[in-house]
Amino acid sequence: SIIYVITPTYARLEQKAELTRLSHTLLHVPNIHWIVIEDSPEKTALVQNFLNRTRIHSTHLYVATPSEYKMNRTDPHWLKPRGVLQRNAALDWLRNNTSPDDDGVVYFADDDNTYSLPIFEELGLAADLRYERPKVTNGKVTGWYTYRKPNRPFATDMAGFAINLNLIHQHPKAKFSNTFGAGRQESTFLTFFNLTLDELEPKANMCTQVLVWHTRTERSKTPYEEAMVKLYGADAYSNIE
Ligand code: UGA
Ligand code: MN
Repeated sequence: SIIYVITPTYARLEQKAELTRLSHTLLHVPNIHWIVIEDSPEKTALVQNFLNRTRIHSTHLYVATPSEYKMNRTDPHWLKPRGVLQRNAALDWLRNNTSPDDDGVVYFADDDNTYSLPIFEELGLAADLRYERPKVTNGKVTGWYTYRKPNRPFATDMAGFAINLNLIHQHPKAKFSNTFGAGRQESTFLTFFNLTLDELEPKANMCTQVLVWHTRTERSKTPYEEAMVKLYGADAYSNIE
């Protein structure tokens, strides 16, 4: 069975570092199909060249977030949802390019998180807490250990669950939306599948192993670039990949 890993990504100085790190994780996992969706009005050369060079089987898509939903550099990170139309583009791609009875599992892996290899065998994060996880009683999910917005029906992070590919086909309306609001993407998306909590399969030894880290990369600051160009000319910042 194939693991479809869905990764939204956007241009910033740290992008290639994030993609490199994630690709090196995925290289250790058999049967990965990596769907990388750029938040961009077109495919960029950077991502195109990057994917051409990795040995991971991949599909390259793009869709731009409309400007009213796009985060500004100075916005607090929780202000707007991110990766919404990009994940939807991947879901549509799956519906159009796999068949309803194909074996597969779908996992949303942001480009900046840190993934432990066992998670890909299990397929199966936290805000101001060391960790969050589902509550498991007698082998069934019965709720969530979460602090923020505890009333969400499925209080999981994007990196905290995976879905059978067949369900993506059986529920063609299941999608994300910029109107769901930040922090509610996962829960609202999962509501489309008409699931009850006890239908979820707790993984990672009844949700007792931490296998994903919500890492965030510090933004690079480049205040001396202008001075460098004055010193060395524009050459200092051209012909670089
Ligand atoms: C948290 C969750 O872990 C995300 O899965 C969720 O999308 C996000 O909140 C949300 O509320 O929308 P966080 O670390 O705060 O994530 O978000 P980022 O890592 O900044 O972005 C999530 C993904 O969207 C990344 O793969 C990133 O590359 C992508 N992204 C981010 C874009 O495609 N466009 C952007 O403008 C920003
Ligand atoms: Mn992140």
